[in-house]
Amino acid sequence: MRIDVHFEPAAPLPDLTGSTVVVIDVLRATSSMVEALVNGAQGVYPAPSTEEAIKLASSLGREDTILCGEARGLMIEGFDLGNSPREFSEERVAGKRLVMSTTNGTRAFSLVEDAVRVLACSFMNLSAAAAVAMEADSIVVLCAGMGGLFSLDDAVCAGALVQRIRSTAEVDVELNDAAMGAVEMALTFRINADFLASTSTGQHLIEIGLREDLKICAEIDRHSVVPEMDDRVIQLRSRPAGSSGSES
Ligand code: MLT
Repeated sequence: MRIDVHFEPAAPLPDLTGSTVVVIDVLRATSSMVEALVNGAQGVYPAPSTEEAIKLASSLGREDTILCGEARGLMIEGFDLGNSPREFSEERVAGKRLVMSTTNGTRAFSLVEDAVRVLACSFMNLSAAAAVAMEADSIVVLCAGMGGLFSLDDAVCAGALVQRIRSTAEVDVELNDAAMGAVEMALTFRINADFLASTSTGQHLIEIGLREDLKICAEIDRHSVVPEMDDRVIQLRSRPAGSSGSES
């Protein structure tokens, strides 16, 4: 098995045609997707821009569609929800399609449409994502980062994911340099809300009054589900082998 981690989505990606890609955006796109889907959202449609999201929502029909996401961390004018996992409650999202536009996370999904499988991972579904990803021989972990660049929260989550896969895989696991570095980072930092608060994305969320989001985004294995994208829609299709599947 081979695992390649990519810290910067702005850098060229390898050919993804034979790979399972795991997209990570801890603060907050993939954390929000996990929470929304567990709470009964029909599917998340990631849009690469606000304009694309508005177009897509009107083509899907606004009745059962929620427009959500952020610009500079805050809800976009005219949208129904922002990008806080705390907003995606069962009351708000059950049975709804979510068209989501975020600065880095939803864009990352549009870069990986050629992959065999595309999974969404955050700390909130870390072990479940590791269990599903390791069904593949070739795994590419794409950190959504910040403005196309490195983001520590995503890198540490990537390292924790690689660690989990390595500790359970029954085959040799070959890592690229970024994956080896990510594992070291995951061993260095204790994952909790204080760690997230120390990152630049975490600091920005605190500045705009969203410190509470860090607590939920730091909850390791809050849910045992794996959102998976197929035909540009992210849904709970994947179930880790051996799970009872009560959540998915
Ligand atoms: C992103 O896609 O950049 C994030 O999810 C940003 C955020 O939630 O503030």
